Amino acid sequence: MRFPPFEHLHFYDDLSGPKFLNISYSDITPFTIREFDGYLPTKFDLSWGDVAGMPSLRRRVAALHGVPRENVLITTGATEANFVVNAALVGPHQRVVVDAPMYSPLRDCPRGFGADVIEVARDCRDGWAFDIDRFRKAANRRTRLLVVCNLNNPTSARLGRAELRELLDFAGELDAHLLVDETFRDLAFSDPPPSIASFGPRGIAMSTVSKMYGLGMLKVGWIVARPEVLRRVLGVRDYTTGNAPPLAQAFADWAVKRRDFFVRRARAIVRRNRALLQETLDGTPALHADLPEIGNVVFPHSDVNVTKLEKLLIRKYRTVIAHGRYFAARGFRDHFRLGLGGKTPVFRRGLANLRRAVGELT
Ligand SMILES: Cc1ncc(COP(=O)(O)O)c(C=O)c1O
Repeated sequence: MRFPPFEHLHFYDDLSGPKFLNISYSDITPFTIREFDGYLPTKFDLSWGDVAGMPSLRRRVAALHGVPRENVLITTGATEANFVVNAALVGPHQRVVVDAPMYSPLRDCPRGFGADVIEVARDCRDGWAFDIDRFRKAANRRTRLLVVCNLNNPTSARLGRAELRELLDFAGELDAHLLVDETFRDLAFSDPPPSIASFGPRGIAMSTVSKMYGLGMLKVGWIVARPEVLRRVLGVRDYTTGNAPPLAQAFADWAVKRRDFFVRRARAIVRRNRALLQETLDGTPALHADLPEIGNVVFPHSDVNVTKLEKLLIRKYRTVIAHGRYFAARGFRDHFRLGLGGKTPVFRRGLANLRRAVGELT
């Protein structure tokens, strides 16, 4: 097993903290311990946790995905979810077809298990439209998994019911599964796409409290799939962590119970920052993006060299963007990702620096 380096994660190693204006993160402003309002799970038994996850959290997650509780496995973040699904379903020389651009572990994790990963690239010129025929052409008899992220990270493009249904039917024709990372589904706000977990036995959804809830350091995520699939996944997860951290699950349960509050919070932050980004785009002809109405990540296209832009921003302005190279093995080198979930004063200053830096390179 040899996993490609997770370059995007380690890019941030020396670029986090208050010295930097990071306008690239995909999470919503972190929720603080203080905001848990004194909540302390004092009755909690720290000697044992349910292997499949805390029952009340599983019940709440099941309701969000429209499935019974037996279809939910709580994991140590969506990162573990992705790993164990791939470990259970994908092996050497099998094929995995993935959307592009996309969050890199979704394409690189199957590579680590020896799979032949084929990226199907979308194009900003047609609004990142999804083309199932290109997925069909990329797949072959050895295909075990199709992978998309809905909403997409980094474009916030949305796959609707009909497209999901088509993809799932295609997975069925191949005797494969469809894995949908639904981490950003809630960030479609009033018009979320349906969860693939509610469609049929070959659909596997995963998600996390890291992004919309701003609770990344809890490392609580989940997989939603039919019990037959979960049994296979659990056979691997028994050897990664055994069960997700019970104390973190208690805090995640507190948050998921208050989901509507977190959605309102996220929506207010994103709305403010989207307006600022629109102004910036209007005043910066070298940058191009149709700002999506939904989602919290944006993937502008730049006329100036993005590698130079990234370096200048870090060196001179201590401002951080996420280069397009992280989101596909090839291509998208003239794009970069911005996140609309950060604190508005930081985002405003970061955007001002972005305009200055683009101006200097134009
Ligand atoms: C699409 C997507 N899935 C999963 C994750 C990671 O989730 P977690 O923090 O729960 O491991 C991220 C984090 O950036 C992400 O963007």
